[in-house]
Amino acid sequence: MPDVIPAPARAEQVPGEGFVLGPDTGLAAAGEGAHGTERWLRATLGAATGHALAPCDGTARNAVRLAVDPRVTGELGAEGYRLDITPTGADLRGGGPAGLFWGAQTLRQLLGPDAFRRAPLPGRTWRLPAVRIADAPRFGWRGLLLDVARHFMPKEGVLRYLDLLAAHKLNVLHLHLTDDQGWRIEIGRYPGLTERGSWRARTKFGHRSSPLWDAKPHGGHYTQDDIREIVSYAAERHITVVPEIDLPGHSQAAIAAYPELGNTDAVDTSGLAVRDDWGISPYVLAPTEAVLRFYEGVLEEVLALFPSPVVHLGGDECPPDQWRASATARARAAELGLADVDGLRSWFAGHFGAWLAARGRRLGGWDEILDGPLPPGAVVSSWRGHGGGRAAARAGHDVVMCPEQHVYLDHRQAPGPDEPVPIGYVRTLEDVYRFEPVPDGLSAGEARHVLGAQANMWTEVTEDAGRVDYQVFPRLAAFAEVVWSPLPAPGERDVADFGRRMDSHRLRLDALGVAHRPPGGPRPWQRRPGVPGRPFAGPPAEAWPPAPAPSGAHPDA
Ligand code: ACM
Repeated sequence: MPDVIPAPARAEQVPGEGFVLGPDTGLAAAGEGAHGTERWLRATLGAATGHALAPCDGTARNAVRLAVDPRVTGELGAEGYRLDITPTGADLRGGGPAGLFWGAQTLRQLLGPDAFRRAPLPGRTWRLPAVRIADAPRFGWRGLLLDVARHFMPKEGVLRYLDLLAAHKLNVLHLHLTDDQGWRIEIGRYPGLTERGSWRARTKFGHRSSPLWDAKPHGGHYTQDDIREIVSYAAERHITVVPEIDLPGHSQAAIAAYPELGNTDAVDTSGLAVRDDWGISPYVLAPTEAVLRFYEGVLEEVLALFPSPVVHLGGDECPPDQWRASATARARAAELGLADVDGLRSWFAGHFGAWLAARGRRLGGWDEILDGPLPPGAVVSSWRGHGGGRAAARAGHDVVMCPEQHVYLDHRQAPGPDEPVPIGYVRTLEDVYRFEPVPDGLSAGEARHVLGAQANMWTEVTEDAGRVDYQVFPRLAAFAEVVWSPLPAPGERDVADFGRRMDSHRLRLDALGVAHRPPGGPRPWQRRPGVPGRPFAGPPAEAWPPAPAPSGAHPDA
């Protein structure tokens, strides 16, 4: 197996010298669907090698030759590709434009770590090994969630993460845009959401049990043009950006901006600030027609910005206490025939699920949405273990697996005392590599509802890009292989071979400037001595149904 991550489905070394990419090597692109990858290769490899990769004919020797090939589509699907390297050049054929692009990622990896730099180093030879690769992904949803609400990630950081996703053949960026601690997307008709809701005066430093505070104001948001740029940059890389507007819980920043969104007959929301501590806020949306209309207005703008078929509306961790105290909420629950106010959460999901369906989109929701009848086309994000995914798939709903016990990248990656602000379970690189997305006990038909999986990066204790890098890498490389590469047989991942390939991959991450966790533990400046976290003991336990929020298993719950 060549040192490629994620491992290709089939790769064979063929006899011969391979091919050396040099100053006279051309780049040929046949057909419409090949031009995106042509542009990307010329820009990326051109910068790294200093070679022009001038346009040439598809029959030229000494060339990288790109084409979308219907025979590859038939054999490997639109995301599949074939790559053949011979002494006359590299032939890359995609099943579709996306497959061609994923093949270009393999080509870049085969050129060695310096192909991940942005300017040429002197004296480099760009030798490609003689290989024949036929490759296609195991899952169609291969995602990373970035929580840009708890700590804002400026636009440049998001674009950089899109490049990092592309390098790992991941194709979904789930952006968690709103939460108690910040609202991060400009909404033209409600400017207060960002004027007041996108910053907080200070921030808890460490887990919420920590006595430490960062007294510096924290904030930021994406303008609508920033979002358009992010979505377009992602599309060029065959990545879908799934927006998340979390409701009816996790909404304190919105209520701080517009106090009338809260349960004003039960609590005074007039002086409410954006939350500066972690944990789940008791401030939840009021179940009123005015609130529904407000969020329909928000979502109209969100739909205009994000072409994603799935629009995620959260639905997790919504404490019912303020609804219990609110005569308006109790009356609404009674009028809807609900047994108690807890059912209002599913009522929100049902309303917006139908609203999205009427506009040709699908509701995405955390697995709490399984508490009520699911709107047509809903996609369940199974986060409290495999159980929600199993239940949803059995009931015929599509699911994305992101169980916190396995792929929450805010969880610590080693047991030692040096892990910065240690949170949650120990999830080593190897643990993530052994993660199996498909819940056991499903029939083949039910398992087809598992669209794929997603690693979730929550940012309560990761205050900047370096801390995010540390938590995400190298584990995202293991995750990428889980969702891309075929499973040899249940439970049979070749950990030793992955470890060998990771030695090369770390050099690529270094060349890209990723502040990944070294195998021996954090560097001194990657530690956070004295900042309390909340480590969980023992191996991760899964129970379904899980304990009700807010005593759920998430370390900040
Ligand atoms: C979640 O972690 N509350 C989805």
